[in-house]
Amino acid sequence: MIFPPPVPLSKVVIIGVGLIGSSFARALKKWHLCEQIVGCGRSFATLEEGLALGVLDVAETDMRRAVQGADLVFLAMPIGATENVLAAIAPFLDARTIITDVGSVKGSVIEAARRVFGTVPANFIPGHPIAGSEQSGVAAGQADLFCHHKVILTPLPESSTEAVHQVSALWKVMGAEVILMDPLAHDNVLAATSHLPHLLAFSLVDTLAKDDENLDIFRYAAGGFRDFTRIAASDPTMWHDIFQANTPAILRVLDQFTSGLNHLRTAVEMGDSQEMMGIFTRAQVAREHFSNMLSKRAYFKPMKQKQTEFIVQVGGTVSGRLRVPGDKSISHRSIILGSIAEGQTEIEGFLEGEDALATLQAFRDMGVVIEGPHHGRVKIYGVGLHGLKAPPGPLYLGNSGTSMRLLAGLLAAQAFTVTLIGDESLSKRPMGRVAEPLRLMGANISTGDNGKPPLVITGNPAMQGISYAMPMASAQVKSCLLLAGLYANSPTSVIEPAPTRDHTERMLKGFGVQVQQDGARVSIQGGQELHACFIDIPADISSAAFFIVAASIAKNSEIILEHVGINPTRTGVIDILRLMGARIDMENTREVGGEPVADLRVRSAELTGIDIPEHLVPLAIDEFPVIFIAAACATGVTRLTGAEELRVKESDRIQVMADGLNVLGISAQPVADGIVIQGRGGTNSSVFTGGEVHSHGDHRIAMSFSVASLRSADTIRISDCANVATSFPSFVDQAGRMGLRIMTREV
Ligand code: S3P
Repeated sequence: MIFPPPVPLSKVVIIGVGLIGSSFARALKKWHLCEQIVGCGRSFATLEEGLALGVLDVAETDMRRAVQGADLVFLAMPIGATENVLAAIAPFLDARTIITDVGSVKGSVIEAARRVFGTVPANFIPGHPIAGSEQSGVAAGQADLFCHHKVILTPLPESSTEAVHQVSALWKVMGAEVILMDPLAHDNVLAATSHLPHLLAFSLVDTLAKDDENLDIFRYAAGGFRDFTRIAASDPTMWHDIFQANTPAILRVLDQFTSGLNHLRTAVEMGDSQEMMGIFTRAQVAREHFSNMLSKRAYFKPMKQKQTEFIVQVGGTVSGRLRVPGDKSISHRSIILGSIAEGQTEIEGFLEGEDALATLQAFRDMGVVIEGPHHGRVKIYGVGLHGLKAPPGPLYLGNSGTSMRLLAGLLAAQAFTVTLIGDESLSKRPMGRVAEPLRLMGANISTGDNGKPPLVITGNPAMQGISYAMPMASAQVKSCLLLAGLYANSPTSVIEPAPTRDHTERMLKGFGVQVQQDGARVSIQGGQELHACFIDIPADISSAAFFIVAASIAKNSEIILEHVGINPTRTGVIDILRLMGARIDMENTREVGGEPVADLRVRSAELTGIDIPEHLVPLAIDEFPVIFIAAACATGVTRLTGAEELRVKESDRIQVMADGLNVLGISAQPVADGIVIQGRGGTNSSVFTGGEVHSHGDHRIAMSFSVASLRSADTIRISDCANVATSFPSFVDQAGRMGLRIMTREV
């Protein structure tokens, strides 16, 4: 980072050469920031040690003599001594001398300066480095103590701009991040984040130490006690002074804490599991994402820092039984509806992939207590239709278009403002398709350029219903409007140009909401309460599709895919592959929680190219990348039309697949709304040549090209595959068990 360097200093006087004073002196020396450092303090032994360690150039016990001719006076003694020190040095300071301090309370330091000087001198810049350790003394100092730490400066309106710049510049050279703050705000924040924890640690150790019977605790003290009480080893004088200097703010936060503690005490006494789980879950999540909280972002930690490459070895057969993870679309909806229901919703089979977790996280950010996921189990303590709270910062939805579009509908009607953001891919996806109809209902939504994220939504609790004919077949748009319709004061109808997945409608009914379906029109009346229920999420047919195609194209293969969701609005992939000659049988067909499921038996087949019927396109919308792999392994030509929506998925799936297929030796010609693929199947055992393809961060592209390896002459390398974790985190393992040979490499 570029910032103006500090003005060179001749003489710096450090009053109080303890941990902070000696660290500052060491950093001045390390960065050659001044010619002479004079250490000043009451203990001559300390000063001598400072000289011997080379931290100080001159030692002086008389502060009045020390400060004469100084460019900078650095006050690093305990805060209670501030007034006396200032009074002693005031007559001997030059007008140009800058004074700064390091006290953990700023209000009392400013008051002390005011009492001594009449007004706070323009060259007095109060400061506080948020760095330290429980160790004290001149020998404990470190030149890098402030590096990557925050330093708060609390200048006053009368402070000199040059002096603020000079003090800031010194800290920045030492590697610190400088923050300017109002003194009162500083004292309130520090009361909560530093003073209260020290008070608790001192008190806990003292309480236990006084109790003879408890002395054993110290002998056997393990991790928890040691971690919690580390700061009780801090300097007593320093802390005594801090508690005297910041009394009102500390008492305020202590009272808050006491009431929280009493609340928890009651929960423990009453055995109130819900209350305890609520407190512990919220605290765990808040702690885990503490740094995000501090930077005013919602609690989200991006999971992938590195690029992942798949290296897939050729050939083989596939065999075995497999249950792929839970359905992504249903997982999103289970969190959304469970959160706004009355009561506790329990979920099984939840997809622990990044997209569904982004939705889950968003609701935690809005105050919903959610336990899990643990082995696909989730428990949601619903807050009711009007119980969501404003999140602490923007909701980060990662790669997930479903999260952003469905949440847009729900949030349009809340009583708060919220911003929705996403990763690079999501930030390029069209959101006008939801923003425009929501605006017709009365929503206040602004988007980025060309209707792209971020979305800033100022909730309008008085939305009106509309009747809306969707220009595209999109379940996300339909679901978004139905969710908004739950809050509208007149009925909302959505008319779809072709059938799309109906999980929202089915699940709403499961929560006791009346939804009318009349041909292509689905309608909902606002104000209906949702009642918690149990949701068993079937395996995701979109994830199963990779193995359906794998077993179809690989020689001598047979697999069983268990408990796969076969909702008729999702089975286009089975219909299309069957039209091509695939051998897919549905066994043990049953219904779980309003969704049909079956075990699928798939065997190798000779596939033939087809013209894909357009009515099947929305019913197989996510499976086309892997259907294209099947088409390449078929005899003859496969033509897809009416699928322009594929161009606005996680990547432009028509172009990206065409490029990859071409690299692998397949003639694939993209057209505006589809693709034409010349199959190389038949007697050829090797259909693909092998080579390097790019997935453009699109999970389904990465998994589709992995499947192509089963009919490849050479290794296929696929770049940018980390996003497989968005929908199918166990793909590499499960594919390995079925016979594919995928190696992953972090790059
Ligand atoms: C989804 C709908 C589809 C699909 C997406 C999930 C849903 O998107 O591609 O993966 O859960 O509603 P569109 O509504 O944009 O077609």
